[in-house]
Amino acid sequence: MRNQGTPVSPGADVVRSGDDPAALEQAATLLRAGELVAFPTETVYGLGADATSGEAVARIYETKARPSSNPLIVHVAGVAEARRIVRFSPAAERLAERFWPGPLTLVLPRGPDSPISLLASAGLDTVAVRVPAHPTARSLLRAVRLPLAAPSANPSGKISPTTAQDVVEDFGDQLPLILDGGSCEHGLESTVVALTEEQTGLDGPCVLRPGAITIDELDAALCGLDLPQARFMAHQGGRGSAAAMPSPGMLRSHYAPTHPVRLHATEVHPGEGVLAFGPNPLSGGVVTRNLSASGNLREAAANLYAMLRSLDREQISRIAVMPVPGSGLAEAIRDRLQRAAAPRDEGNE
Ligand code: TXA
Ligand code: MG
Repeated sequence: MRNQGTPVSPGADVVRSGDDPAALEQAATLLRAGELVAFPTETVYGLGADATSGEAVARIYETKARPSSNPLIVHVAGVAEARRIVRFSPAAERLAERFWPGPLTLVLPRGPDSPISLLASAGLDTVAVRVPAHPTARSLLRAVRLPLAAPSANPSGKISPTTAQDVVEDFGDQLPLILDGGSCEHGLESTVVALTEEQTGLDGPCVLRPGAITIDELDAALCGLDLPQARFMAHQGGRGSAAAMPSPGMLRSHYAPTHPVRLHATEVHPGEGVLAFGPNPLSGGVVTRNLSASGNLREAAANLYAMLRSLDREQISRIAVMPVPGSGLAEAIRDRLQRAAAPRDEGNE
């Protein structure tokens, strides 16, 4: 489903098609001048800036109202560009070869001559890098010839954007340009993986944020490298210990709609809207959105943020969320839902 050509307003005049070479050239010029440009990736829309410029990166933190202790992901055109920024281990080489371009972020030690602004990595001696697969992101990175720091293009702590229209709603009057590349294929942020003991305090690969690439896929790709099994380590536990190295961005409250969220709903309370999953949606809600009537997890992931945003626009008292059972991608969906439902006054960005 692509939404190019959909009329958007206000701020619609800043939206240009990511297929238009002149728009890509304008984006590259703006980024080189230290401005922010929103662009599509296969996961969510990113708010991009020149990752080598502290001033440009500072604009991201300011625009999102993001705490500067939460480091950003640096997007590059390919592995060669990543090598100028971070040091690769054999395991990192293997994962990059298998999953790039694609929704995998690798947290690796900063290279000796890394040009990346320290602000982008929140002063850490590691940098998170990824090579996005979306054609517009790829064209933009080739045109600008700079690494781009790009968090999701939403105010800190709120729901991530999966269409250009979502970015217009959040930042339409604050950005000079939003590139439109249609609806994001995955709809969930990239899987963030740390690989070495010096980063995790543990030996072996560690998933800091679950996403489209699952632990089983990571283990399969690393097979034969004599590493312990990958584990999920997050703020709220999961496989492994939360204490050793929480990713600075794994905050308990995140991806949050304005309405309160109630998980594990098996019945509907008066005034609630329903976020359903599967062939038997709960009845009685003021309004219902179904992540996937057939129970398809890829479809559910792709719909998650768009449906949370749409329920947020309704006159309801709360969003009741049906269980999303299963492993793999279901774990990433549940991770986002738990953060959307978490108390807002504690640990929010
Ligand atoms: O799919 C995605 O990854 C999207 C698109 C735009 O590429 N980007 C995104 O960025 O989700 P952001 O800034 O919203 O999330 C970055 C995550 C945070 O959880 C942050 O803490 C973690 O990556 N991170 C970044 N650098 C890190 C580092 N050096 N060590 C540990 N975690 C890091
Ligand atoms: Mg984000």
